[in-house]
Amino acid sequence: MNIGIDKIGFYTPHTFIDMVKLAEARGVDPAKYTIGIGQEQMAVSPVTQDAVTLAANAALRILDKEDLKKIDFVIFGTESGIDSSKSAAVYVHDLLGIQSSARSIEIKQACYGATAGIQLAKGHIALHPESRVLVLGSDISRYGLRSSGEVTQGAGAVAMVISANPRILSLGDQSAYLTNDIMDFWRPTYSDTAYVDGKFSNEQYIAFFLNTWEQFKSQTDMTIADFEAMCFHLPYTKMGMKAMREIFDEGTEEDQKRLTDHYQLSTIYNKNVGNIYTGSLYLSLISLLENDTSLKAGNRIGLFSYGSGAVGEFFTGTLQPEFREALAEAEHKNLFAEREEVSIEKYEEIFSEVLPVDGTNLQLDIESDPATICVAGIEEHKRLYVNKSR
Ligand code: COA
Repeated sequence: MNIGIDKIGFYTPHTFIDMVKLAEARGVDPAKYTIGIGQEQMAVSPVTQDAVTLAANAALRILDKEDLKKIDFVIFGTESGIDSSKSAAVYVHDLLGIQSSARSIEIKQACYGATAGIQLAKGHIALHPESRVLVLGSDISRYGLRSSGEVTQGAGAVAMVISANPRILSLGDQSAYLTNDIMDFWRPTYSDTAYVDGKFSNEQYIAFFLNTWEQFKSQTDMTIADFEAMCFHLPYTKMGMKAMREIFDEGTEEDQKRLTDHYQLSTIYNKNVGNIYTGSLYLSLISLLENDTSLKAGNRIGLFSYGSGAVGEFFTGTLQPEFREALAEAEHKNLFAEREEVSIEKYEEIFSEVLPVDGTNLQLDIESDPATICVAGIEEHKRLYVNKSR
């Protein structure tokens, strides 16, 4: 059965900083951030957005009335969960008005969660071909002000409708995956910023890519020449290139040029948003599809997902005949155009503004946030969500 991505959209908060200005404020050569790391702008999430609202805002942009009637499974991948018990998917289900005969769950495995969601969705659609599954990847990446990971922060969400006979990308049945218990990046439940062994995580990312790539080739007899393009989980945009370069000696010069050219286009959105953890690979896919005019139906795209700790997976998708019409390119270009740059001082202020954790009630000013769905406050330990369009 042909199962895959029928719709794909993303959302990122309305404020961002310029990486050259961040470098200057931190006394670092700007080329380290823009060339060495490969980031140009970084989304800054206001206190009125969290993983739930980012995901709901992303989904709002792509779902129509029929989707709301047919979606019977909401799968939310995140590592920025707001509750240890109740899943973020249940809030999104309500905020969007999805019909009630549905399953709603949250999945956690660092940046791999949304990929796990897609694979679970595929199984569900194979059993129930009329269903549609909403898969969300939503996160706020926080390492801390002046930390070594600060340059790789960001915020945003990707929403995908997985269905039979998808209009955008048909997902291949062959897939190669790997789990290994390592401590390259983690966030204990008592901390709101992540811990990371940066160099080790880079090494492990590449090792996981090479392992799953080898497994995939032995499962399928495919080679590098079978791929028009490859998209990667992008904690920062240099990372995927470092991994892809490792297999370049398996291809011709033409293969290397083709993959490099497509890769540049697959990183445009990520360069300007930063790391969005679970949504990162799929933001890169959107960037490729919406910026690369040379892609054609039938092209095969390799997808590498990596979630520290760690789980990795290499799988593929094939572009469908109507893929261009099914994209939300104009919406996404507007989203970027309407963002507002903030100073480094303002970013530091926004970063330090967090919801109380001691039971204090708080009302937030949601009029200063142009997003349709916002966190309006906290009352008796419950976050108050508002969908302004209702
Ligand atoms: N001009 C151009 N490039 C420069 C430069 C300059 N002036 N100064 C440094 N660079 C390059 C370095 O050569 C290096 O490139 P390379 O990786 O190709 O060798 C790159 O910039 C980064 O420099 P480095 O000294 O390694 O940076 P760092 O010690 O500050 O660490 C990270 C960078 C990415 C490891 C760190 O930000 C981090 O830990 N981020 C989180 C990692 C993560 O997201 N992990 C999850 C895995 S998915």
